[in-house]
Amino acid sequence: MVNTELVERIQALKAQRNAVILAHNYQLGEVQEIADFTGDSLELSRKATEIDAEVIVFCGVHFMAETAAILNPTRTVLIPDPTAGCPMADMITGEQLRELKSRHPEAKVICYVNSTAEVKAESDCCCTSANAPAIVRAYADAKEIIFVPDKYLGQFTMEQTGRDLILWEGFCPTHARILDTEIATARQQHPGALVMSHPECPKPIRDASDAVLSTGQMCRYVRENPAREFIVATEIDMIHRLQKEAPDKLFHPVSERCVCPNMRKNRLEKVLWSLQDMQHKVEVPEPMRTRAAAAIQNMLAVVA
Ligand code: 13P
Ligand code: SF4
Repeated sequence: MVNTELVERIQALKAQRNAVILAHNYQLGEVQEIADFTGDSLELSRKATEIDAEVIVFCGVHFMAETAAILNPTRTVLIPDPTAGCPMADMITGEQLRELKSRHPEAKVICYVNSTAEVKAESDCCCTSANAPAIVRAYADAKEIIFVPDKYLGQFTMEQTGRDLILWEGFCPTHARILDTEIATARQQHPGALVMSHPECPKPIRDASDAVLSTGQMCRYVRENPAREFIVATEIDMIHRLQKEAPDKLFHPVSERCVCPNMRKNRLEKVLWSLQDMQHKVEVPEPMRTRAAAAIQNMLAVVA
């Protein structure tokens, strides 16, 4: 049940602080409901360039709040729970990327936005799950392309573009645990339902799906597709967003285990405390910020 008093206190404090609340599609329903804008990583990055509020409360994982901070050096960016990290983003360090680059000195580096500011600063361009093939195509002239850190998104991008990429062994622990047998079982239980999976899923899951989509693309897909039932092979709280997009349609999680524990750390209480205490600030030091911003802006220039 929604705590109305808590929501009212958040709204009042939000106005007082001149703040906006951005939330990723995987946030708990209660957090999505109080957000000014909910979206996928690309939509949230774009939104972060358009904000004129003084404070951004970013309900997502750390790299997402960091992206907002990189794009808004003069605004205060807060994350309700500073321990909400992304294990995939932590699978490559700046040092490891520098070492990889030294072995491929002519390569262009594309990094998935699920990466630290230090890794972005070492990259030529960012990408998200919504635009990785388009970004790789934009670097058609590159002799070699390094793609970090998600090997599954990298493999999907290679399949889509026919371009060979130098991959890193990173992956999302949440999506990596979906089993192809679970897709088969879900199809048996819900005959006629379409399966949507995220490009962070391993190949057997992607191959068993009707569509491989970023979370924002899933929203459009369910709105525009005449089908009435969908099996959702991504983080389970995505279903809250999908149900809002298409209230008359039915959504089934492929697995109850498909949970991102870090995304769940942001609770309504923590959003309130964040605004009360102006915590926890996310800041990126110069010159790393400027270099990371260039990689994000290069992405936005390709897909604007
Ligand atoms: P989207 O950009 O598709 O929302 O994905 C972000 C993410 O972290 C998926 O695990
Ligand atoms: Fe990171 Fe996976 Fe969680 Fe997305 S779902 S934030 S990739 S751990």
